[in-house]
Amino acid sequence: MYATPDRTLSGIQPTGTPHLGNYFGAIEQHIALQDQYPGECFYFIADYHALTTVHDGDTLRANVREVARTYLALGLDPQRATLFRQSDVPEVTELTWFLASVTGMGLLERAHAYKDKIARGMKPNVGLFLYPVLMAADILAYRPSLVPVGKDQMQHVEMTQDMATYFNQAFAGGEPVLRRPEGQLSSTPVVPGLDGQKMSKSYGNTISMFDSGKALRKRVGKIVTDSTPLGEPLKTEGCHVLGLLGLFKTNAELDEIKTNYRTATRNGQPFGYGHAKQLLAEAIETRFDAARQRHAHFTAHPDELDAILARGAERARGLARQTLQDCKKACGLR
Ligand code: TYM
Repeated sequence: MYATPDRTLSGIQPTGTPHLGNYFGAIEQHIALQDQYPGECFYFIADYHALTTVHDGDTLRANVREVARTYLALGLDPQRATLFRQSDVPEVTELTWFLASVTGMGLLERAHAYKDKIARGMKPNVGLFLYPVLMAADILAYRPSLVPVGKDQMQHVEMTQDMATYFNQAFAGGEPVLRRPEGQLSSTPVVPGLDGQKMSKSYGNTISMFDSGKALRKRVGKIVTDSTPLGEPLKTEGCHVLGLLGLFKTNAELDEIKTNYRTATRNGQPFGYGHAKQLLAEAIETRFDAARQRHAHFTAHPDELDAILARGAERARGLARQTLQDCKKACGLR
């Protein structure tokens, strides 16, 4: 009755410039999945979620375009994947209410992301508390089988599974009106930032994919290291520079760099953290060179972005409307 093809769906908040953590934790696999699920990949810009923290309309609009540009620059193909703005599908807010009506407070009180924000001194609004319910709605509305995310979002996906079950049991006698999706982690589910904590916009420790030249070197220069002087062996264990180099280098290249750390030399020259950072900046610049050019193209052509988002919204909304109709029928609202 609710037969749905294998489908992948994920979202990203427009709270600033996407960074290497977003890329290696999520976006890279989102784009790779286009080959596996052509026509069934759905990725959205979670602007409703961002309202819990971004309270300036112009900033939000600019951030939404920045995320869209980022996906397209990094290789999202709008023929095979649907890119859309969360708020273009207002049905998800209605579904949020249905799910809130069957979800216990205790489940939400256990949310790590919520607890972490409170621990960091953020004054919680009700939206922040309800965040996982909105997230469950904007997953379940599209009936995906797979939700590829970084590790920090996995608990939210598990909560989504619970909420699908609560709804199906409460309103549909256990019938799968809402499909329980599986989460999927990338091979680097937690990418460290400049200070070794998880890279995150809210921790101010990010590195962008699209910086280059002096700006990039300056940013990479901020990675925290110990103060071993040039010419003395460097510790490989726990080195954040080396951790990030691991995202770009093959095992053999990484082994060579570890040898440079231990001997404090490379190609017969002294080797210190500054040199390791230089290698990292070069690796980032090379890896994202073509993407940086596509990014500049979409910056100059916002009309192209808007057209892609509009087409995406239409397609996504069609799916969400069908799910809502089935949910309303199950709840007794139709
Ligand atoms: P957001 O915007 O914080 O992050 C988007 C994606 O990037 C991943 N990510 C990371 N992965 C590894 N290492 C890091 N340092 C790192 N930082 C971010 C996140 O895990 C995520 O996959 N609540 C979500 C947005 C959202 C969503 C959804 C996601 C709303 N609705 C439905 C999936 C499905 C968020 O704030 O992600």
